[in-house]
Amino acid sequence: MLSLSPLYFLLLAAFVVNGRTAATGEYLKLPLLCKTPRPSPTQSLLLDIYRLSHLHRIPDHKHKQIIKSPVVSGAPSGSGQYFVELRLGSPPQSLLLVADTGSDLLWVTCSACRQKCSFLHRPGTAFLARHSSSFSPHHCFHATCSLVPHPDRNRCNRTQLHSPCRYEYEYSDGSKTSGFFSKDTTTLNTSSGREAKLPNLSFGCGFRISGPSVSGASFNGAHGVLGLGRGSISFTSQLGRYFGNKFSYCLMDYTLSPPPTSYLMIGGGQNAVSKNPKMSFTPLLINPLSPTFYYIGINGVSVNNVKLQIDPSVWSLDEMGNGGTVIDSGTTLTFLPEQAYRRILTAIERRVELPGPAELTPGFDLCVNTSGGSMSRLPRLSFKLSGDSVFAPPPRNYFIETEEGVRCLAIQSVATETGFSVIGNLMQQGFFFEFDRDRSRLGFSRHGCTLR
Ligand SMILES: *[C@@H]1O[C@H](CO)[C@@H](O)[C@H](O)[C@H]1NC(C)=O
Ligand SMILES: *[C@@H]1O[C@H](CO)[C@@H](O)[C@H](O)[C@H]1NC(C)=O
Ligand SMILES: *[C@@H]1O[C@H](CO)[C@@H](O)[C@H](O)[C@H]1NC(C)=O
Ligand SMILES: *[C@@H]1O[C@H](CO)[C@@H](O)[C@H](O)[C@H]1NC(C)=O
Repeated sequence: MLSLSPLYFLLLAAFVVNGRTAATGEYLKLPLLCKTPRPSPTQSLLLDIYRLSHLHRIPDHKHKQIIKSPVVSGAPSGSGQYFVELRLGSPPQSLLLVADTGSDLLWVTCSACRQKCSFLHRPGTAFLARHSSSFSPHHCFHATCSLVPHPDRNRCNRTQLHSPCRYEYEYSDGSKTSGFFSKDTTTLNTSSGREAKLPNLSFGCGFRISGPSVSGASFNGAHGVLGLGRGSISFTSQLGRYFGNKFSYCLMDYTLSPPPTSYLMIGGGQNAVSKNPKMSFTPLLINPLSPTFYYIGINGVSVNNVKLQIDPSVWSLDEMGNGGTVIDSGTTLTFLPEQAYRRILTAIERRVELPGPAELTPGFDLCVNTSGGSMSRLPRLSFKLSGDSVFAPPPRNYFIETEEGVRCLAIQSVATETGFSVIGNLMQQGFFFEFDRDRSRLGFSRHGCTLR
C-alpha cells in the first residue's frame, strides 16, 4: 500500500513524462553482466562445483531447520554468475551485485569510514555509507525492521534515537551477512532511457560478511547480492510497487567471448507477452515454509523424446515443505532428485555418440570429448512442466565445458526426502524468462532474447 507522503508525490512526478506514468508499461532495464573464471576455467570452476554440490547436501537436521526458516536461500553461489550494477546514495555510488532469485535480501558491503576511506577500503570496494547524504539505518522499532531476521529484536529501545535495525541473514551453505538494515535513494535506468530516482530502497548495509558464497574468489569481486525472491524485502518486491509486479531476464551464454549482454527487466505491461507469441507458461507455486523461492512443477523428463520411468512423487513438494523444484538464477548447476538423476544419467549415457575424454573430470559422472564431434549429437533432454508446457534446453545448457574440448553433464543429485531440486542458471541460458508474480506464472521462450 502506498501512503500519500510527499515522497510518493515526488516519485510520481518523476515518472510522469509526456503524460505517461509507469502504469503505461515503462519498466526498468538493467544490464546483466557475467563473469566466469575464464580464460583457464578448469581449476576454479571445479572448486566451485565441489562447493556447489555441498551447498544442497547439508546434514538432514540442519537442512530441515533451514528449510523452515523464512531466511532460507539457494545462496548466491557458483562460478557462472550474473551481476547487476546498482547506483546507491547521494551522490550515487556504483555497486556490482549478484542477481539472485534464490534469496530476498538486497545487501551491499558497507564501510563506515568517514575520511581515510582509501586507506581502509580501496575506492570501489564497498558502499561508503557516510559519504551518502541520504543514507539512514531503519530504527529497530520501525515496522520495516520486523521484515528482516534480526538478532537483538528483544533489546530494541524504542525511545532511544539512534538504535539501528540490526540484521543477520544466512544462506543455506552457512554464508552470512550482518549489519544495519537501512534505506537510501537509488538511481535506475528505465526502458525509455530516462533515469529514475527511488527515494527509499531498503537494503542491508553489511559490515560482517563471511562464508564461501559471499566472499573470496568465487564472489568475483561483487559488492553484495540483489535478492530477487518472492519475499517483501526483495528488490523486485520493493520496485514492483512502482513498476509492476513482474520481472524478466535473459541469461546469455557466459562461455561465449565476448559475452553478449543480458538484461534484467523489472515491471512492464503486457509487452513482453504480446511481443512474444511463442511464450510457454507454467504456474509459479508457493511453498509457505519457504516463501522466498519461485517453485515450478516438473511432471516428467524425456531424453530424445522418450519419457523416462520416474516415480512422479519424486518431484512433489510435500506439506512439510520438502521437495519441489526451484528456479534460481544464483546457482550455476542443476540439482535433481537422486532417482531422477540416475535415470537421466543412464539414458544419456546410453545415447551418447561421442567418445569419453582420456580421464573423467572429478566431480562429474559423465563427460564427453567434443573436440571431434558436434554438440548437436548430444542427447536431448526435456522437462514436462505443470500447465502442459515443455522446457527443452539445448545440450550446451546441461553439458558444461570443463576444459578445452571436454563437456560434462552439469546436473547433480539431491536426496529426495529433505532436499529440493534447483534449475540453475546454466540450464536457463538463452531463454527469456518472465516471472509474473501477480498472475503467479512463469513464462519462457527460446525466442525472446533477440526480440528486445
Ligand atoms: C517507500 O516509501 C513509500 C512512500 O512513503 C512507502 O509506501 C514504501 O513502503 C517505502 N518503501 C520501502 C521499501 O520502505
Ligand atoms: C532507552 O533509551 C532512553 C533514552 O536514551 C533511556 O533513557 C532508557 O533508559 C533506555 N531504556 C532501556 C531499557 O535501556
Ligand atoms: C544509464 O544510462 C546511461 C546512459 O544511457 C549510462 O551511461 C549509464 O551507464 C546507465 N547506468 C546504469 C547503471 O546502467
Ligand atoms: C579428444 O579426442 C581427440 C581426438 O579425437 C584427442 O586428440 C584429445 O586428446 C581428446 N581429448 C581428451 C581431453 O581426451
